[in-house]
Amino acid sequence: MRDSCFTPPHIIVALDFSDQQLALQFARQLDPQRCRLKVGKELFTRAGSQVVEQLVGSGFDLFLDLKFHDIPNTVASACAAAAELGVWMINVHALGGRRMMETARSAIEQSDHQPLLTAVTILTSMGESELHEIGLMGTPKENVMRLAALARESGMDGVVCSPREATDLWHQHGDEFCLVTPGVRPSWAARGDQIRTMTPGEACQAGASYLVIGRPIIEAPEPLEALVAIEEEIRG
Ligand code: C5P
Repeated sequence: MRDSCFTPPHIIVALDFSDQQLALQFARQLDPQRCRLKVGKELFTRAGSQVVEQLVGSGFDLFLDLKFHDIPNTVASACAAAAELGVWMINVHALGGRRMMETARSAIEQSDHQPLLTAVTILTSMGESELHEIGLMGTPKENVMRLAALARESGMDGVVCSPREATDLWHQHGDEFCLVTPGVRPSWAARGDQIRTMTPGEACQAGASYLVIGRPIIEAPEPLEALVAIEEEIRG
């Protein structure tokens, strides 16, 4: 296990709930010392910035996963607005290109609060044939490696990638470049729509800095037991 970006807690629980009350109720069972939280498009669209502020106010490190992808000026303004919410991490799509990422970085540098800024490379739900369909030739890993290099050159703190790409990315970019990996599935959990997956233990061994885990925890009959089982697997 590596340190640097790999600062505990390593697990980021994706609060993919349709309703603010459900999300806050769920978060009350959790301890900010043991996990970070992620608010994504569904919850943010329903509940807005209020739910983010409440979770940050409860002491959680929060990843605001809105994957901005637009013209540079719009993305920069959105990043500045997200930074003002006091969150720990925000992200953009690397496919938005160098100028978009560099402008987002400048906007963060001018903010009073400076969250980590990461870039999504290729969604973990996408396989090779889907990439070819949208004109991205080569394997998912080749696309991820290319986009991660561009993201780093453009000033990103790290990338969101599949754990399957983590080892190669770690060898190429080292400890200071965060590797945030969704697509994590304990052996006992359903894969759902994720395609490029690994177990939590494998993802850590592969060099992931942070593991984003949603349904295997939030839809478990006993979510806290699921979290404990994942923590134990990572420690092992
Ligand atoms: O439920 P599950 O563990 O699949 O949740 C994964 C979370 O990570 C979801 O909130 C999803 O939006 C997010 N995510 C992802 N793939 C990416 C980036 C983020 O699955 N490339």
